[in-house]
Amino acid sequence: MKELKIGDLTAKLPLVQGGMGVGISLSGLASAVAEAGGIGTISGVQIGFREPDFRENPLEANLRAMGPEIAKAKANPNNIIAINLMTAMRNYETYAKEAVQSGIDIIVSGAGLPLNLPKYIAGSNTKIMPIVSSARALNLIIKSWLKSDRLPDAVVLEGPLAGGHLGFKMDEIQEQTYTPLEDLIGELKDALAVYENQYHVNIPLIAGGGIHTRDDVHRILGLGADAVQIGSRFIGTEECDAHENYKQAFLNATAEDMRIIKSPVGLPARAIRNDFLDAAYTDGFKVNHCFGCMAKCKPAEIPFCISKYLVDVAKGDEGLVFSGANGYRINEITTVPKLVEEWFE
Ligand SMILES: Cc1cc2nc3c(=O)[nH]c(=O)nc-3n(C[C@H](O)[C@H](O)[C@H](O)COP(=O)(O)O)c2cc1C
Repeated sequence: MKELKIGDLTAKLPLVQGGMGVGISLSGLASAVAEAGGIGTISGVQIGFREPDFRENPLEANLRAMGPEIAKAKANPNNIIAINLMTAMRNYETYAKEAVQSGIDIIVSGAGLPLNLPKYIAGSNTKIMPIVSSARALNLIIKSWLKSDRLPDAVVLEGPLAGGHLGFKMDEIQEQTYTPLEDLIGELKDALAVYENQYHVNIPLIAGGGIHTRDDVHRILGLGADAVQIGSRFIGTEECDAHENYKQAFLNATAEDMRIIKSPVGLPARAIRNDFLDAAYTDGFKVNHCFGCMAKCKPAEIPFCISKYLVDVAKGDEGLVFSGANGYRINEITTVPKLVEEWFE
C-alpha cells in the first residue's frame, strides 16, 4: 500500500481521518488513527467546550484546551496529527497561531477560503492543507498563497457526499446536479499538475466524502487520489471521542433520516434527522447567548445557535448530529484497527 508523504511527514497508509466538531474527533480518535498508520485530525472547533468557563469565555477556554489536546494526541511522538480549523471561525488567526505554538503537524481548513493561513504559520514547520470542493476554489487559494511564496503541502478534496458543511450550492445538492467525487478527482489532479510542474513539487490530493467500504477506498485511490479522507465511518468506533448517545444516533439512523439543511453558518450541511432538527426548522430556537464561534453571525436571522446545539449533542443531549451521506450504514461499534484492516489489508 502506498505511503502518504506530506513534506517531511510520512504516514504508512494513504488515510486521513477527517476533523469532526464539536468534540467528535479529539485526541482519542486522532491518536488511534495515527497509531494505525494514518493521519489523525483533532477538531479545533470549540475545543474548550468542557472547560468550566467555556460559556463566559469561549476564546480563553478554547485556547487553554488546545495545547493539552494536541499533546495527548502526540503522546506517541510518531503520531502525525492535524487540527481542523474552520476558516469562518471568529479568531481564526489566534487559533491557528496557538496550534502552531502547540506543535501541531498540520492545519487543515475549509468552510471558506483560508487565504491568509500561510502568514499565520510563517517560520514554523507546520504543514497547511486547504479543503476544497472545486478546482476554482483551489486556484483562488493557491494564487493568494503564492503571494507569500507558499503552496499547499497537500489538498483535501471534499465531495458532495461528505458530512457537516458542504462546499456545494444548496440546489446542486438537492437536485443532485453536482459533480461526483469520482469526476472531481481528475479535475483537481489536473489543476494541481500545473503548479507541480511549474514549481517542481508534489502536492498530494486527499479525497473524501461518502467513503465507507474497502471497495470505496480502492476505487478512489484507483482514480488517482493519493489518499482517502474518512469521517463518518470512524464515528462507529470505540476510540471516537463522541458521546455514546451520538454514536447511537448513527446506529439507529436509516437512509430516510439523512437531511440537507441550510446551516446557521449559511452553507448547506448534511445531518441526521431528529426531534431537535424538526423543531429547529419549523419554529426555530431563539438565540439567547453567543459563544463567539462565527466571524459573521447574525443571531436574529438564524434558526438556532450552532455552537449551543453542537456542544449539547457532544455532551449527550439532543442537538445537531452531522453525518456523511453513508452515516446511516454504520450498524456496529468496532475499533479503529479493525476498520483500517478492513480497508487496507
Ligand atoms: C460529525 C461531523 C462533523 C464534522 N465537522 C467538521 C468540521 O468541524 N470541519 C470540517 O472541515 N469538516 C467537518 N466534517 C467533515 C469531515 O471532516 C469529512 O471530511 C467528511 O465528513 C468526509 O465524508 P464522510 O463523513 O462521508 O467520510 C464533519 C463531518 C462529520 C460527520
